[in-house]
Amino acid sequence: MADELTLTHVCMQFKGVKAVDDFNAHFEKGKIYGLIGTNGAGKSTVINMISGSYKPTSGEVGFGDNLINKMPGYKIAEIGIARTFQNLRLFKNMTVLENVMVAEQLRNKYNFFQMITGSPHFRKTEKQMKESAYEALEIMGIQKYANMISGNLAYGYQRRLEIARCLATDPKFLLLDEPAAGMNPNESLQLVDEIRRIHNERDITILLIEHDMKVIMSLCEYIYAMASGKTIAQGTPKEIQNNETVIKAYLGGGD
Ligand SMILES: Nc1ncnc2c1ncn2[C@@H]1O[C@H](COP(=O)(O)OP(=O)(O)OP(=O)(O)O)[C@@H](O)[C@H]1O
Ligand SMILES: [Mg+2]
Repeated sequence: MADELTLTHVCMQFKGVKAVDDFNAHFEKGKIYGLIGTNGAGKSTVINMISGSYKPTSGEVGFGDNLINKMPGYKIAEIGIARTFQNLRLFKNMTVLENVMVAEQLRNKYNFFQMITGSPHFRKTEKQMKESAYEALEIMGIQKYANMISGNLAYGYQRRLEIARCLATDPKFLLLDEPAAGMNPNESLQLVDEIRRIHNERDITILLIEHDMKVIMSLCEYIYAMASGKTIAQGTPKEIQNNETVIKAYLGGGD
């Protein structure tokens, strides 16, 4: 089906470590999914394999009609899969708006020659880029900081800016790696609202890695739980909350 993402028997082996062992998942268009697990469970590795940062050592990743497990990361971004990083990767010396516009260039139609000659096509594109950048900042509630140097933003806002950068590329699928990390409970609650807004306004499929169970349980329709590279449970928030194996992994895992 169009824009559905499927991982089939996906494995990632680093020298001595099987970081992900036979991961299988199906993500339907327009739903919000959660990926939980103790530290080192393999969650970020799953996102890295979807976005093309890592190539799975075996298994397949399909997005719509595309088999993406061998595609370069920029191509995967071009077909509509965007991601944030667990450790922020902003250009700290650029303004908030510039950070978003740089990300947008990825999916733009003009070439370098048009850009340096300032052709009408480029000017039009730049105007459109600015508009959609502001739109993305507005969804994340940070448009008033557009001209601020991003390194001077409060940490919680920097996390929002990372998401705004993704939104400006108009993705079909959004991968969020611990977007609430380092946020206080109030900020996390706000973030939940913003993610819900993204989902309602843009009809984007979302896969969310998060340690904050309040965030996961209030947003996600379906959850995958991992431990030591393996999927230990999957189901609705209610099913996951009551799952013995998940409870044991969390209580015994020193998370
Ligand atoms: N590039 C790499 N090279 C070698 N080992 C790696 C690499 N990336 C991840 N690993 C290992 O793979 C395992 C899974 O790591 P991963 O980052 O996916 O865990 P995680 O579930 O995201 O954990 P956390 O909650 O701490 O972010 C860990 O043992 C980690 O050390
Ligand atoms: Mg991680």
